[in-house]
Amino acid sequence: MNKARLGIVSLSTIVSASLFLGGCSSANENTDTVDGDVRIVRVAHNQSATHPTNIGLLAFEEYIEENLGDKYDVQIYPNELLGSQVNTVELTQTGAVDFSVASNAILESFDNIYSIFNLPYLFESPEQYHAVMDNSDIIEPIFTSTAKSGFEAVTWLDAGTRSFYTVDKPIETPDDLKGLKIRVQQSATNVRMMQLLGGSAAPMGFGEVYTALQSNVIDGAENNELALTNNLHGEVAKYYSYNMHQMVPDIVIGNLKFLDGLSEEEREIFNEGFAVLSKVERESWNAAVEDAKAKATEMGVQFTYPDIEPFKEKVLPLHEEVLTSNPKLRPIYEAIQEVEYESADSSKGE
Ligand code: GCU
Repeated sequence: MNKARLGIVSLSTIVSASLFLGGCSSANENTDTVDGDVRIVRVAHNQSATHPTNIGLLAFEEYIEENLGDKYDVQIYPNELLGSQVNTVELTQTGAVDFSVASNAILESFDNIYSIFNLPYLFESPEQYHAVMDNSDIIEPIFTSTAKSGFEAVTWLDAGTRSFYTVDKPIETPDDLKGLKIRVQQSATNVRMMQLLGGSAAPMGFGEVYTALQSNVIDGAENNELALTNNLHGEVAKYYSYNMHQMVPDIVIGNLKFLDGLSEEEREIFNEGFAVLSKVERESWNAAVEDAKAKATEMGVQFTYPDIEPFKEKVLPLHEEVLTSNPKLRPIYEAIQEVEYESADSSKGE
């Protein structure tokens, strides 16, 4: 923690005022300092304080301040304090915020190269997913693709496997989705995925989902298990069906001007900090999922395990559809199939 940390509420008020009143990017740029020379580094995300994302970011904060505490004061804003992910990506573009965590799903509208990781059933297992995300040949060109928009990705975080959860009845087959309004993330690929599955897509920000479920604006949503507990969706949605349609990573993005303004030594330390963030977040993921399942069960959520083949059958045509409309994705798609990884039960490609 930092010597001169301001109270979150008062600072967020100041931040909001300066972020939202400023019009152009130079006006929005974060040049705030505390203690004279110590530069505030703002990091925004939409998860709760106990979520693996926040735990990883606290480790990042500690690492940076241990090594560069005389120059940088990392301040983390969880819980959509600085706005939804779409808002905080925009704030990271302008530099009003230095780093933010965005689901890969919404980055698709900033550069459509990100559509690749929004494809349903792209990965066979978490092991393949992790091996691909750790493969720098595949990831580097994607992470640097948004430079023209003023930001770049610096690392990725595990966000588990997404499945459907609903208020009134479990989803056992795609037919059960007919006539249901299901919240999806704001991404064209996700909307199309829901169409193919037969449900009606309701794109909205994460922070709006609880109220939408509670007021019957939607019949369900789709996410990893942590949404049931960290975001309390399990208070309303009592059926979680493991159809496991997507593994969508979270991406940590940084303002390009800030990153480019770091000296070589500082950048090295920030890079080490990003590695610490990803490692700590990923190491706490599995235990967080187990904990969420236990807590959700206590909340009365029932977990069901439908046959996933009928779901796959409906949505796999989306792969070819997306690759045809966005040909630059095809070599990446092919490279993904080639990545070697150790699977939990057997090994592949060695
Ligand atoms: C997950 C993911 C978030 C995302 C959320 C959502 O929680 O980690 O980054 O915002 O899903 O569905 O919007």
